[in-house]
Amino acid sequence: APEPATLVIFGATGDLAKRKLLPAVFGLWQDGLLGSAFNIVGVGRQEMTDEQFGDFVIEALKSSKETDEPHPGALEKFRDLLYYEFGDFGGDEVYSLVGQELDRAEEAHGGRKNALFYLSTPPSLFEPISNGLGRLGLADESEGWRRIIIEKPFGRDLASARELNAAIHRVWDESQVYRIDHYLGKETVQNLMAIRFGNAIFEPLWNRSFVDHVQITAAEDLGLEGRAGYYEEAGVVRDMLQNHLMQLFALTAMEPPAAFDADAIRDEKVKVLRSVRPIPPQRVPEVAVRGQYGPGTLYGEEVPGYREEPGVEPGSTTPTYVAVKFEVDNWRWQGVPFFLRTGKRLPKKVTEIAVVFKRPPLGMFPGGTERNVLAFRIQPDEGVSLKFSSKSPGQEMVLREVVMDFRYDAFGAQLESPYSRLLLDAMLGDATLFPREDEVDRAWQIVSGLLEAWEGPDAAAPDFPNYPAGTWGPEAADALIGPDRRWRRL
Ligand code: BG6
Repeated sequence: APEPATLVIFGATGDLAKRKLLPAVFGLWQDGLLGSAFNIVGVGRQEMTDEQFGDFVIEALKSSKETDEPHPGALEKFRDLLYYEFGDFGGDEVYSLVGQELDRAEEAHGGRKNALFYLSTPPSLFEPISNGLGRLGLADESEGWRRIIIEKPFGRDLASARELNAAIHRVWDESQVYRIDHYLGKETVQNLMAIRFGNAIFEPLWNRSFVDHVQITAAEDLGLEGRAGYYEEAGVVRDMLQNHLMQLFALTAMEPPAAFDADAIRDEKVKVLRSVRPIPPQRVPEVAVRGQYGPGTLYGEEVPGYREEPGVEPGSTTPTYVAVKFEVDNWRWQGVPFFLRTGKRLPKKVTEIAVVFKRPPLGMFPGGTERNVLAFRIQPDEGVSLKFSSKSPGQEMVLREVVMDFRYDAFGAQLESPYSRLLLDAMLGDATLFPREDEVDRAWQIVSGLLEAWEGPDAAAPDFPNYPAGTWGPEAADALIGPDRRWRRL
């Protein structure tokens, strides 16, 4: 278990805290993983007593689907761990109150004044909060460890991400900083490394001699979910591609690390991100497709288009879909394209990484041969499948594709929320599953060509909407991967 510590959540009454964070903390605590000396300080701009915050948290836990079944009396005991402070994040007072909470925690359960600060706030507050903590000496580790978790989006482009990193580093050492990408907390994402480096049979095939191409898909059926304020500013490139998809790409394409530790793994991720050929804005039309959903039918129901969502401008040019081809300039992947796609209001929720192998060198069977596919189903129906050809029973030599399938349910265990894994790792000081500064920086560099081509002063107005809700995105995405390859039907 971690050492005695206080978890300080800025933005504790926000949506993320309510839906994901608090249920994850409760689950960890109830399972005894946070140790006995642990408490939570919620911090917000809203005036509230400890009592009212307690009510809020209990209500949030009861209403979230992600909350584990509470043991008898557990909610009441959890409530005793909760404190609340409020104030203006630009001033000093709120941080001094937080400091007093840390003193109180130390008196209550002894030990050092360890604290994990979780910034679950709008991005415009990351810097003021980090500075405020710094001004009041709360980043200083002489009385206990101090760590800071920063939610996404980490910047809105390369320049602002660099400014944010510089501002954070004026207060914190990189070893204290945990930038969260919740995809890295998913069991199935970690399993990518387990399968690649825990088996002898896959890695020898994992290169340009055997792999034809790789497809990474993160399809969402959801639309905006009332997040227009954020999404209109972000769009799909910042919301999904720059972080979640880029992380999936890095784990799939990186070289084997020398050890399973934070620096070795992150060094390899950065190395492969550096090998991705930069996309100059003028090449964007060749290698990328953007889209925005119009009205359509999903699961038999009519749903509005993006421009009809509450809070969205009628002429909005924000993309909700992107497909892109990455070329990787290194020995392993020369000539092997990586196709990434993600979008909202697609026909279903599915995230998958598919390694598509080359055809056998000699096609000696009637009807030809198909490409073998090793597919990692990140979610839902978590698992791994291998598709290959087999003789179909009968007199003739006819081949059919068959699938060997491993499903996570075989373990009989419930998959934990990614937030609980990442929170616990941060409490334990393990940064393996958190993107490092240079990774985030490089990921911004890679997408900056797209942002410039689509948002820069010379950007042409997109022909939006260009895919109906409930379909697999704009037709141009088929041309991007084609003509001799096609997107997997998922
Ligand atoms: C978030 C994005 O980071 O990830 C959302 O802001 C998106 O727009 C979500 O819906 C997807 O996460 P998951 O875990 O449901 O695939």
